[in-house]
Amino acid sequence: MALGRKRILVTGGAGFLGSHLCERLIAAEHDVLCVDNFFTGNKDNIAALLPNPRFELLRHDVCFPLYVEVDEIYNLACPASPIHYQHDPVQTTKTSVSGAINMLGLAKRLRAKIFQASTSEVYGDPSIHPQTENYRGNVNPIGPRACYDEGKRCAETLFFDYYRQHKLRIRVARIFNTYGPRMHPNDGRVVSNFVVQALRGEPITIYGDGEQTRAFCYVDDLIEGFVRLMGAADTVTGPINLGNPVETTVGELAHRIIDLTGSRSKIERRPLPVDDPVQRCPDISQARSVLNWEPTVPLETGLKKTIAYFDTLLRSNTYSQ
Ligand SMILES: NC(=O)c1ccc[n+]([C@@H]2O[C@H](COP(=O)([O-])OP(=O)(O)OC[C@H]3O[C@@H](n4cnc5c(N)ncnc54)[C@H](O)[C@@H]3O)[C@@H](O)[C@H]2O)c1
Repeated sequence: MALGRKRILVTGGAGFLGSHLCERLIAAEHDVLCVDNFFTGNKDNIAALLPNPRFELLRHDVCFPLYVEVDEIYNLACPASPIHYQHDPVQTTKTSVSGAINMLGLAKRLRAKIFQASTSEVYGDPSIHPQTENYRGNVNPIGPRACYDEGKRCAETLFFDYYRQHKLRIRVARIFNTYGPRMHPNDGRVVSNFVVQALRGEPITIYGDGEQTRAFCYVDDLIEGFVRLMGAADTVTGPINLGNPVETTVGELAHRIIDLTGSRSKIERRPLPVDDPVQRCPDISQARSVLNWEPTVPLETGLKKTIAYFDTLLRSNTYSQ
């Protein structure tokens, strides 16, 4: 085996972020084991990797123990969009909590380094802005988003308990809104929603007055952050915010997408869903200073690539509504 070549497990590897991560790790000449139960993931996302002998795919649900031999684990398995994680909320909590227990158990047995894809949702509807890692959040524990938010919070707790109790090497990233090719077309996330609506010439649905802000990170930037965090010194456990601190209002995003697609779609307003945060923006000072990382892809560049992906997808025979 080449020097520096590792065996790396990516759970949720057939999903949006997971498939980009697998690609990146294969390009760096590692051996990648992609584990996924295909709840929201898709074989098309990793089709290009399947012929590669260094890439292996295993259908498995992380709620059950897994016995494999690897050097590093990236734990991404969990549906990420409200439509998907609210479809079976009990399963969502199980995936985050039992999934974390199983992957941490595996890491403990192997003394492997383990990365957790946590989320800005641990901050809930934040009362401070932008959010720094020491902000403890404002989460409604009994609301419809709690299965995701509290599941991810509990997973963070488990990571830090394994770190303290078992001296595990952990990395916890709090990921903010990320977009790019291979997002699910029907997942209700704002970028994919608007792009698909614009390409179809359907009305663009804005929830609320459109003044709520989001900060959108392009997927390549985020994956670079993952790899830097995993490669950082073992004293760097996180939690560390990874996201793009440039804020855009949802209304402004809709107009940009209409312009870039040349669509004739009109804007349509709908009521704001329960517990939808009004403002969400990362403070990435830690990522800047500790990982020397910050996003570099401008929104327009990322949107163009995302639009091109959805355009091809919507025209293809494989995609149905
Ligand atoms: N995309 C974002 O903006 C964002 C933001 C914050 C956090 N995250 C986190 O990043 C990770 C990946 O998100 P994504 O956007 O790629 O979502 P995704 O839904 O595209 O990917 C999740 C993957 O996990 C798989 N999965 C779900 N439950 C599983 C289970 N029980 N066992 C095995 N596999 C399972 C799905 O099939 C899918 O392939 C998630 O943990 C998510 O919470 C993403």
